[in-house]
Amino acid sequence: MKLTLTQTLPTLQAKKLLKKQSPKDSHCLVVLVDNELNLIASDTLKTHKDRINQLIEVAHFKGTVAETLADYALTESKNNPIQLLIVGIGKANNLTASNLQKIGKAIYQSMSKRVDAITVALGKALTDDQFAQFANGLLNASYRFNKYKSESQAPVLEKISVLASKDYQATLDFANAVYSGQTMTRNVANEPGNVCYPEYMADQAERLAATYPNLLKVRVVNQKQMEELGMNCFLSVAKGSDREGKLVILEYHGKSKFTTQDGKKAKKQKAEDAPIALVGKGVTFDTGGISLKPGAGMGDMKFDMGGSASVLGTIKALCEAKLPINVVAALALAENMPSARATRPGDIVKSMSGQTVEILNTDAEGRLVLCDTLTYIQRYKPKTIVDAATLTGACVIALGNVRSAVFSNDEDLLFALQNASEQAGDAIWHMPLDDEYQTQLDSPIADMQNIGGREAGSVTAACFLSRFIEEGQAWAHLDIAGTAWISGKQKEATGRPVPLFMQYLKNASKA
Ligand code: BES
Ligand code: MN
Ligand code: ZN
Repeated sequence: MKLTLTQTLPTLQAKKLLKKQSPKDSHCLVVLVDNELNLIASDTLKTHKDRINQLIEVAHFKGTVAETLADYALTESKNNPIQLLIVGIGKANNLTASNLQKIGKAIYQSMSKRVDAITVALGKALTDDQFAQFANGLLNASYRFNKYKSESQAPVLEKISVLASKDYQATLDFANAVYSGQTMTRNVANEPGNVCYPEYMADQAERLAATYPNLLKVRVVNQKQMEELGMNCFLSVAKGSDREGKLVILEYHGKSKFTTQDGKKAKKQKAEDAPIALVGKGVTFDTGGISLKPGAGMGDMKFDMGGSASVLGTIKALCEAKLPINVVAALALAENMPSARATRPGDIVKSMSGQTVEILNTDAEGRLVLCDTLTYIQRYKPKTIVDAATLTGACVIALGNVRSAVFSNDEDLLFALQNASEQAGDAIWHMPLDDEYQTQLDSPIADMQNIGGREAGSVTAACFLSRFIEEGQAWAHLDIAGTAWISGKQKEATGRPVPLFMQYLKNASKA
């Protein structure tokens, strides 16, 4: 679905409706009302105003956040009816991101299924950031993943128009680009493990690169190459599966050309050309390996590639928004399976960084694919590195599905992410990385072990990753275990943190 801007009230469409005599070809006008019963954009509502005020009164409409009231109204040309949807926005000076997302969602969900066009009368009520938050809520509410349903499903509206007396065009284009990336993220993450395995994700990346040959370059590192590179932590996860592990590198050259800064071919580059690195955990299915997970709820582990799905979707959104910035993305793709070739608890492997790891629990696999990927990506000497990973169940316990956890070794980066998070309405919460937690990872036999016990489980996971970041390299880690998907009967990928990533990159492109 796409959002567009319009200058006119939906009268023409209503006329068409009568001519065609098709009950499906109808239009809905959405009117927003605050909790003092003021109509938003009332100057644009013309003749509908009286009808709306009457309705509000007889229905005892209060204007609370996301409250809805549906009815019909007549257009100026007499008998031509259009549908009206009145939506509450609560206190006009309390339009928070979460309220705006709720309002956007309520609009999509409560309009009649027979409506095939919607116009939202917005006037100039929202700031640009608020408009983007509202648009993101509305767009994501329209998302459906129906491809495995045999019975045909109600079609999704193709577009929704916004009647505005302010120029939201640039903000709206950006919101559409973000949603398009988020849709890709949600689509690949919703695919089950028998369809979405490392090679499938690599194919998606290659297809994306083929669509944007001027902006994107892709490279797929296979297991043999990983062996040569000494990525034994990554391989320790991938080797239990019949599906080969892959490390996908996507370079987005939105500003200038850039290359890796080591090896024979390396050309030195200006500091401003250094890319921002995004790294995603891409465990396409996490059984736990030999440290097998319990059966209940294991199906959710098809979402364990949500981090790399969000990085891939962000690259797509970047291509659509054409942000003038350099970005290098890494998707760390593997399937975590138990087999005769799988890693045993107690095995010791040497990482690409040279540090040795005692793998005491094969279910702590995300950090193993990520640590070698972090070492690899530092060849680009990136300005900053941000990774996203469905890394720990402990993070779900701590923060639920509202906020992602953020850990960082760099104050400026942390601040930039917190700002972007608030602007985009994609919430995060700062978690600690004190040295004192590091001792939980001490191993009597290797440089470290891959688990740190039950206490502070998401902190020790982040501490593990921090050991692979070189001195002076700005890095942040997002634990999205609670936010990448909604579990339960209606389980579904959310496409987070694509909005956060895109806002961060947009801000960085202007800095
Ligand atoms: N993918 C899981 C984390 C996870 C669990 C995400 C539940 C969402 C919901 C990760 O690979 C994992 O298994 N982590 C272990 C680590 C432990 C063995 C130290 C965990 O959290 O239990
Ligand atoms: Mn695991
Ligand atoms: Zn996992």
